[in-house]
Amino acid sequence: MRIIRAKDYDDMSKKAAEIMAAQINLKPDCLLGLATGSSPEGMYAELVKKYEAGMLDFSKVRSYNLDEYVGLPKDNDQSYFYFMNHHLFSKVNMNIENTVLPNGIAEDPTVECEQYNAMIEASGGADLQLLGIGHNGHIGFNEPDDHFTLGTHVVDLAPSTIEANSRYFASYDDVPKQAFSMGIKNIMDAKMILLVVSGEGKADAVNKAFFGPVTPEVPGSILQLHKNVVVVADEAALSQVGK
Ligand code: PGA
Repeated sequence: MRIIRAKDYDDMSKKAAEIMAAQINLKPDCLLGLATGSSPEGMYAELVKKYEAGMLDFSKVRSYNLDEYVGLPKDNDQSYFYFMNHHLFSKVNMNIENTVLPNGIAEDPTVECEQYNAMIEASGGADLQLLGIGHNGHIGFNEPDDHFTLGTHVVDLAPSTIEANSRYFASYDDVPKQAFSMGIKNIMDAKMILLVVSGEGKADAVNKAFFGPVTPEVPGSILQLHKNVVVVADEAALSQVGK
């Protein structure tokens, strides 16, 4: 695991965007595993700037996403499809047909998980998987548990995750209580993982995930076993390391 220290959120976003841009330039038809949330938002904005400056071409890029809320259709402004479209897909020359997210309103969630899982397995894994990390150490929506769940599954969101995500909704009660999430093996199958993390609120998660034991109680700790992980973390997120 390589940790790149950034000064603050903006610096983290720029450094992460350079890595993602290098991946796209090196392999224009690369398969990206994408993530939503406040952590990667700034990085997407930097990528859009590079595209607008003529430095990046997304026309052959393919992507799948980590997760989606159960029950939210694509046009709901809190869905992760909406987020991706708003922050990236609609702002660059990405072919929307080359992008995949779990279908939040799938009639049969079990079948949706099976199909998503099969799609990832058939792809051989992303060239680059982008991740954030939750306050409780979750990656994707793989919440702390007594075991690692390997494949795509429906997750009951932890109360702390619902609380954290309620900032985007009118109230706690409006936050969906379940989500589709890629599993730990789906994530670990990526050839490279890029994790972005910012802020003091994440410092405990960073310390436990990257400097503590590997345990499903801290899902992000599994990344210590991956051969090619780059963490771009700002100083505040690294403030607990070694303490
Ligand atoms: P955030 O979420 O980037 O909105 O903090 C990250 C996560 O929960 O994985």
